[in-house]
Order: sequence, then structure tokens, then C-alpha cells
Amino acid sequence: MFSHLQAGPDDPILGLMAQFRKDPRAGKIDLGVGVYRDQAGHTPILDCVHEAERLRLAEEDSKSYQGMAGDPVFTAAIEALALAEHPVRRDHRVFTAQTPGGTGALRVAAELIRHSRPDACLWLPDVSWANHPSVFQAAGLRLRDYPYYDAPTQSLRTDAMLASLAQVPSGDVVLLHACCHNPSGVDIPAGLWPEIAALAQRQGFVPLLDMAYQGFAEDLDRDAVGVRALAAAVPEMLLCTSCSKNFGLYRERIGALSLIGDCASTTTAAGSVMLGRIRNIYSMPPAHGAAIVARILTRPALTAQWQDELTAMRERIRRMRALAVSRLAATGLQRDFSFIERQRGLFSFLGIDAAQVERLRSEFAIYLVGSSRMNLAGLSEGNIEYFANSLATVLRQ
Ligand code: LMR
Repeated sequence: MFSHLQAGPDDPILGLMAQFRKDPRAGKIDLGVGVYRDQAGHTPILDCVHEAERLRLAEEDSKSYQGMAGDPVFTAAIEALALAEHPVRRDHRVFTAQTPGGTGALRVAAELIRHSRPDACLWLPDVSWANHPSVFQAAGLRLRDYPYYDAPTQSLRTDAMLASLAQVPSGDVVLLHACCHNPSGVDIPAGLWPEIAALAQRQGFVPLLDMAYQGFAEDLDRDAVGVRALAAAVPEMLLCTSCSKNFGLYRERIGALSLIGDCASTTTAAGSVMLGRIRNIYSMPPAHGAAIVARILTRPALTAQWQDELTAMRERIRRMRALAVSRLAATGLQRDFSFIERQRGLFSFLGIDAAQVERLRSEFAIYLVGSSRMNLAGLSEGNIEYFANSLATVLRQ
């Protein structure tokens, strides 16, 4: 069965993480995989998570199955975080299942789309998270793309994007990054969401919102403005959320898939189909991450502590964006890097070519994804000078 198989290619992001770990050079800098890092380059466990885990150990009294939708306290809390007191919740038009990470949510969404509407195309922004195409193709979906990121200006191709969305046929699905676009850091501005919502309504396409970074751009509510605008406008929608980044729970694999239906009864029916897909793939989600998030979001003191820790992470990333711009300018490079400060979340494209990315890795032990996506959280006051000077050397030669 296996003897004819050729080794697959390394994952462009996770493969880099493995390479970085093996690199023995002191002073190496990881700007690759999308995890938050503190000033010391460490990805910390949040204090509120430590406390929630302590509570869980004391409180948990069974390891019995939880069911396909996961922990109902978690799903209600995560739904409220994304949608607040939105009318779709009051009208029982939302069904949420806990999933193994945001990627689990994307895969279940893909299975649900394929099951409900096998002919539907999924439209991805050009460019999108490197793993998006293969997750959806693995579920048998056909993909198309719409213009999104303009490399020369490091900004949004607003007119081209709107013109393309105005052509999406009814019944197709359009994936939109809710905030902190991965990989470009270029977001849809708040004022543009109503226009996108109107197009979705007019064309009859189903928005699939991917919200992996709520709280990393502006704040929890402002980062969900697109999700809430679309939920108010369209009869049907899908929302994938992740707790990897904003709760720092990467390895616990905790996320959620919410579907919004046009009325309570179709939502219940579609929810049961979603559970059927889950049963076929992994039966039930793991419990630990949900137990942590549920405790944090239902105990006011823990919620406040989490919000403070989230704010601190967001502010550090912003400081690193500003510092990167000023230190790169101080090298005397003619190139304008001010776009880094205008973009949001963990990532920006540095805008260098693959050979330059490779030189940064081989000569200077600085790791970026081959597309030149850099994780700003990998920078610190301690390594920024080295990073800026190394980049200047590479760009001058
Ligand atoms: C990233 O984009 O680096 C993260 O979301 C990690 C991953 O799974 O790719």
C-alpha cells in the first residue's frame, strides 16, 4: 500500500518551525510560525489560563463523553464573544459546535458545504492563509479567488475586490478574514463591511468568516465588526473561530464553528447535519481547551484578567510594528517600510524575494515564510537592531 508513495513537501509554515528548532545558532530569530511571543521570544501560558486549569483540576468530576457539539458552556460563551447580543442569537438562528482548533472548524465547514451544496464554489481572497486551499480541497470543494492584496502598495485592492464579489453567483461561498488578515496584515476597513454585506445579500452568496485573531487588531468588539455586520444582513452564514491566539491555547486545539440559518427550524436542522459531519470525522472534540475558555469567559474576574493579558499582547505587537519601521528607516535604506505600522495582527509581508528570504535564513539565522511573511511578535527590543541590519545587508547586495 505504501511502497509507491513519495515523501510529501514540507509544510511551508510548520516545516519552517521544525527547521528553526534544529538550528543551533545563538541569536536565531523566528519570524515564521504565527504564535505570539513575549519580549524574551517565549510563547507564554497566560496567567488566566493557569488559574482556569487549576480550577478545572479541582472541579472536574468525570471524563465521560461530552457529545459531538462539545461543551455547551464553551459554545454559548464563544458565540457571545463573536456576536455579543446580536438579534440572530435572540432569534435562535445560530448553532455552534466546539471544534479541534480553527482548522477543525474550517474542515467541518467545508464538509457541511460539500454535503449541503456539492456544486458550490468557495472563493478565497488572493492571497490567503497558506493552509486554506488544501483544507477545502481535501473536502472536495472547488476553489476560485477574488482580488484582495496589492503587493506594490501593500494595501487592499478595494475596487477590484468589490467588482469581483459583485459577480459571485448565488449559492457560492466567500471566505473573508474577519481581522488581522493572514498573511498580509491588510484588513477590510470597518466602513467597507456594510458594502460587502449588501453585495452578499444582493448576490445571494454565503459568507464564511474566518476569525482566528479576535482581539489582536483593535479590541474584541471592533475586531468582530465585519462578523456582526454580515450576520445582520444575510440569511445564512458560517463563522470559524479559534482560541489559539487570543487565549494562547495553540496546542490545546480549541475553536468553534457557528452556522447562522434563515430561521430557528432550519438552523436546528442544519446544526444536526453539522453534527453528523463531526461524527464522521472525529466523533467528538477534545475537552481540555474548551474547559479552560469556558471558565475564563464565565467568571468575571478571570474574564477581566484575560482581557488585560490580551491587551498587553496586542500592544506589544503594535510596539514592535512601530519599532520595526523606525529601525529599518535608521539603517538608511531607501525603501519605505511604513506600511508595517498601518497593518494589523501578527503578520506583514516584508516584500522581499525568495532568494533574499533564504539569505536571511542561511546567513543570519532569521526565519520568515518563503512568501516573505513575517511574524512581528518574533521581534523584540533585544533583536530588532540585528534584524534591521541583516535585512539592510541583504537588500544592499
Ligand atoms: C500560521 O499561519 O502561522 C498559524 O496559523 C499556524 C499554522 O497552523 O499555520
